[in-house]
Amino acid sequence: MSIHIAAKNGEIAEAILLPGDPLRAQFIAETYLENAKRYNDVRNMFGFTGTYKGKPVSVQGTGMGIPSISIYTHELFRDYGVKRAIRIGTAGAIQKTVKLRDMVLAQSACTDSAANRFRFGGRDYAPTASWKLLKAAWEAAAAKGWEPAVGSVVSTDIFYSGDEWKLWAEYGCLAMEMETAELYTVAAKFGREALGILTISDSLVSGETTGAAERQSAFTRMMEVALETAVS
Ligand code: HPA
Repeated sequence: MSIHIAAKNGEIAEAILLPGDPLRAQFIAETYLENAKRYNDVRNMFGFTGTYKGKPVSVQGTGMGIPSISIYTHELFRDYGVKRAIRIGTAGAIQKTVKLRDMVLAQSACTDSAANRFRFGGRDYAPTASWKLLKAAWEAAAAKGWEPAVGSVVSTDIFYSGDEWKLWAEYGCLAMEMETAELYTVAAKFGREALGILTISDSLVSGETTGAAERQSAFTRMMEVALETAVS
């Protein structure tokens, strides 16, 4: 038991998928995992463990934003020995070249959050993906004929933040989301591997958004890449 996760020791796998939405965690467990068992319902932040291609995999909702994913990842790494954590989530494109439903592998994550300024006493830290997981995800996608964009994303604290995205876009960032910088930082603190895999659900450049049905098929691609990466 940790404060926010009710699992017993050994009930969470070393490899874990981290969607923001706990109902997406349930969908993944029901759709892709064999013998999935729910180990957490504290705050309805569901977590499940089962097997994928015979290997143990867990999937845990994290909630939205840096403070929420910070709590769950800290407890997963510190109290449950999670070794490989793969966030799967949505993001808003901030480059013209990044289109709706595209998959993005977050090589690094900039942020406007004060979390790391606080943690590092005003110094800058560069939250970076695990190279091993990034390479595995790229290869898993390529094997299915998909070519994700790879680059820096921005983990913002403010979903409704006006034109702030334009400055990040000028410096080459691909998309805005709200969690990856903290995932990478907490994983680094505990010496673990982490990767953010994102699907573009909307574009801040064009103002377009995806409908629920088309989102589902794009999400399916991302989940398959994440699962292959988890067991790689
Ligand atoms: N901004 C921040 N987070 C997001 C967005 C966005 O436009 N789209 C999906 N997650």
